[in-house]
Amino acid sequence: MKIIAFGIREDEQVAVDAWVAKHPDVQVDTTNELLTPETAPMAAGYDVVNILQAGVPVGEATLKQLADLGIHILTLRNVGTDDLDFEMLKKYNFHVSNVPRYSPNAIAEHAMIQMARLFRHMKQMDIKVYRHDLAWAPTIGREVRKQTIGIVGTGNIGRVAIQIAQGFGAKVIAYDKYQNPELAAKGLYVDTLDELLAQADGISLHVPGIPENHYLINPDSIAKMKDHAVIVNAGRGNLVDTDAVIAALDSGKLDGFAMDTYEDEGGLFNVDWAGQDFPDPRVADLITRENVIVSPHTAFYTWTASEEMVEQSLDAGLAFFNGETPEQVVKF
Ligand code: NAD
Ligand code: COI
Repeated sequence: MKIIAFGIREDEQVAVDAWVAKHPDVQVDTTNELLTPETAPMAAGYDVVNILQAGVPVGEATLKQLADLGIHILTLRNVGTDDLDFEMLKKYNFHVSNVPRYSPNAIAEHAMIQMARLFRHMKQMDIKVYRHDLAWAPTIGREVRKQTIGIVGTGNIGRVAIQIAQGFGAKVIAYDKYQNPELAAKGLYVDTLDELLAQADGISLHVPGIPENHYLINPDSIAKMKDHAVIVNAGRGNLVDTDAVIAALDSGKLDGFAMDTYEDEGGLFNVDWAGQDFPDPRVADLITRENVIVSPHTAFYTWTASEEMVEQSLDAGLAFFNGETPEQVVKF
């Protein structure tokens, strides 16, 4: 059996090598190229294609080529399936898996760290110190334990974010379309998103970027928030109407914004732009703001997560090849 893994980073290669050592009958070849219509021919002769795209879509132009090469197994090394065209996957008879649960702590702790940094004006402080300004003012902050933190989405990641926020001593409230019985028993849920928006000082998004969640944060929802709220988006870029957030930062309605995922991040994030202008003026502007923290979709980026993503995705490819249905199967 032969697997080709696209978009492999150096940290992932370590995990691939470890997996291959345990599966000597499987050949895994890797490339740092992403899967695109141009690179799809590289999959000739393989049984399984393994990818992590992060904003680079996989549509018919790619899938038809893979199907013509006799490949019908596509395994993702990440959670979000939003880069995939499911109509085309159906049309070309693909089996698909993702890694729905790899170290939710990686993302949850990143989100809660950024939330705490916003409350404590850490970016402003870092910039001041870097400029040799060691005066205290004006960076006086808000203690996290005195805040109400609203977690939107209480799946794998949201539930860990709740534990971390509680560790700070904050009052935590949560909203999910489907309540988790354990959290419900603890009385954490509010009944509507509007209630959460009205009560939270800090809002952290942990829902998928499915079409119905597009622009969950928009001018109307921002108007329902407390004055001086902060928002953290380590979910998906399309959850947030970026222009609406910028307007709310400009008006002073919002105190801060941490953006790990961005609606136009494909081709922008995970690229070294040092010495060049950003092709996206909106991000160029956000990065310079002292109350905005931009991270290039790195909430997941830990050794633990990387290893689990590679291992589980290669296991799933092997299972599909052997006619089994891996637990990570994506049903569509
Ligand atoms: P999950 O499926 O375990 O949980 C998602 C939860 O959101 C579910 O409980 C679901 O009921 C709820 N939900 C969906 N739409 C909702 C809505 N409109 N209102 C309220 N609740 C809603 O997913 P997860 O593993 O916790 O991951 C959440 C998201 O985090 C992923 O979909 C992905 O987009 C994102 N993610 C980001 C990174 C990163 O590096 N920034 C890494 C992994 C995942
Ligand atoms: C995911 O796993 O869905 C992520 O957001 C992380 C990734 C795209 C590297």
